[in-house]
This record gives sequence, C-alpha cells and structure tokens, in this order.
Amino acid sequence: MSQITPAQQLFDLTGEVALVTGASSGLGRRFAEVLAAHGAKVVAAARRTDRLKDLAATSPNISALALDVTDTKAIPAALDEAERAFGPLTLLVNNAGIASGGRIVNTQDGEWEQVIRTNVDAVWHLSRAFAERIIARKGSGAIINIASLVAGRVGLSSASYAISKAAVLHMSKAQAWEWARHGIRVNAISPGFIASEMTDEYLASPAGQDMIKRVPQRRSGQPSDLDGTLLLLASSRASGFITGAEINVDGGHALA
Ligand SMILES: NC(=O)c1ccc[n+]([C@@H]2O[C@H](COP(=O)([O-])OP(=O)(O)OC[C@H]3O[C@@H](n4cnc5c(N)ncnc54)[C@H](OP(=O)(O)O)[C@@H]3O)[C@@H](O)[C@H]2O)c1
Repeated sequence: MSQITPAQQLFDLTGEVALVTGASSGLGRRFAEVLAAHGAKVVAAARRTDRLKDLAATSPNISALALDVTDTKAIPAALDEAERAFGPLTLLVNNAGIASGGRIVNTQDGEWEQVIRTNVDAVWHLSRAFAERIIARKGSGAIINIASLVAGRVGLSSASYAISKAAVLHMSKAQAWEWARHGIRVNAISPGFIASEMTDEYLASPAGQDMIKRVPQRRSGQPSDLDGTLLLLASSRASGFITGAEINVDGGHALA
C-alpha cells in the first residue's frame, strides 16, 4: 500500500511559481493570498498597480506585475518579467475577467469585443505562452481557468458574458487534452455568485436578493469559499490525475 500523505504536505505549494491575473481585487486577490500562504511564489497581475503593490506588501511571496491581459502583444514580455521575479512559472490562474449585461440586441459591438478580448482571447494567449515555456523546458505545470456558473446555462441579459465563459470552459478541456502529454494539467472552476466588486451591487439589489432565494444553499459565496478548490487544482500532489475537469463552487446553484 502506498504511503498516506498528510494534508499539510498534500497542499504544500513550496517550489511552485504562480501567475494570477486579475489579482487586484475579488477572487484574484484571494487566490494570490491563498497560494502564497501555502508556499508558492506568486506574481500578481492586473492594471491597477497601486492595489497590487499593497497586496505585494503583505507577503514576501507576492510580487506585482502590471498587465492588461487584452494587450496580447505584451504577454511574452510580461511572462519574462514574471519569471525574473521568482523563476520559471509552474502555475497559471486565468482569473481576470469583466462582466457584461444586457440583451443581445442592445449589446454594443465595442462591449462584445471587450468581453471576448478580456475573458476569452486573453486566456487563449496567456495559456499558450505559458504552455510553450513549459514544453520548451520539458517541465510540468497546471492551469486553472475561472469560468462561471453561466458557462453551462444562459441567463437573459448576460448573453455575451455567458458565451465568453462557455468558451473558457471548452478551451480548458481542449487545452487539457492537448497538453496532458506535456505534463500540463488544465482545469476550470465555475463559481456561482461570489461577493466581489463585480457582483456586490447586484447581490444587494432586489433582483439579487430574489436570485439568492433560488440558490439551494440560500446564500451567495465569499472568495474564501474557493480556497479548497484552488488548492486542490493547484497542487499536483493532490490532483495529479485530474485534468479537463470543471468544479462548480456555487452552493448548488447549477442544480436549480
Ligand atoms: N464574483 C462572481 O460571482 C463570479 C462568478 C463567476 C465567475 N467569476 C469570474 O471570476 C473572475 C474574477 O471576478 P471577480 O468577481 O473577482 O471580479 P472583480 O473584483 O471585478 O475582479 C476582476 C479582476 O479582473 C481584472 N481585469 C479586468 N480586466 C482586465 C484586463 N484587461 N487586464 C488585466 N486585468 C483585468 C481586474 O483588475 P484591474 O481592473 O486592476 O486590471 C480585477 O482584478 C472573473 O473572471 C469573473 O468572470 C466571478
């Protein structure tokens, strides 16, 4: 019988070097903090660098990186800068994202394009650049893509966002299959409604309060509700045989 690894060791990320996009607020900030608290070196990327500097000041394991993920030409240089901070990247959390509301007929072209560039194109380009580096050095690594509850179910007035997240989910599976042979695991987390700058206003509104009544657990989530799933998927000791998976963290919302 193989040895039983204690949980502390199973989720110890010492030696991992992570890039977390959208780390200036909400889920991304929490992801950076949790990975760093478990021993990983974390490059926290976003556009609001003042916030990233505040985050980096909380831990010697966190470094700030200015990156607009829609600037795909800047990605190779950004990855170089990230690797100069802490060494070769082994983990990528594609978390940066924007929401978009409104019916399809009312969605302006520019809004559609910005959602697709931020939520889909950036994940494509960052993941590919990350994988190319790992393949070139014959290393191994993991990608965690942040999809959404609406990747699998469309709501009225969130079509462009839902379409973008469905693409992220499909992309995760395609990446997982293609890169498994190169030692890269790719998985998706699909959060339900989690308190953040993206959702706070909606969750406090009468429509948001009504929606919460339809969630089987009758509550929205906190960023900390994602800690365990993040650590599971980040740790190759804990999830070395998991790739191409989607984990819903939504209080049962996908069932309702
Ligand atoms: N909260 C939820 O209920 C929920 C549910 C399902 C999925 N999600 C997904 O979870 C992820 C995080 O969302 P959140 O709720 O934490 O929202 P948030 O607080 O608004 O955070 C979004 C993050 O994305 C970054 N970002 C946006 N556009 C960017 C760009 N062009 N370049 C670089 N960074 C960019 C923002 O940083 P800067 O503005 O500083 O660049 C910010 O750090 C998103 O992908 C979202 O779709 C959230």
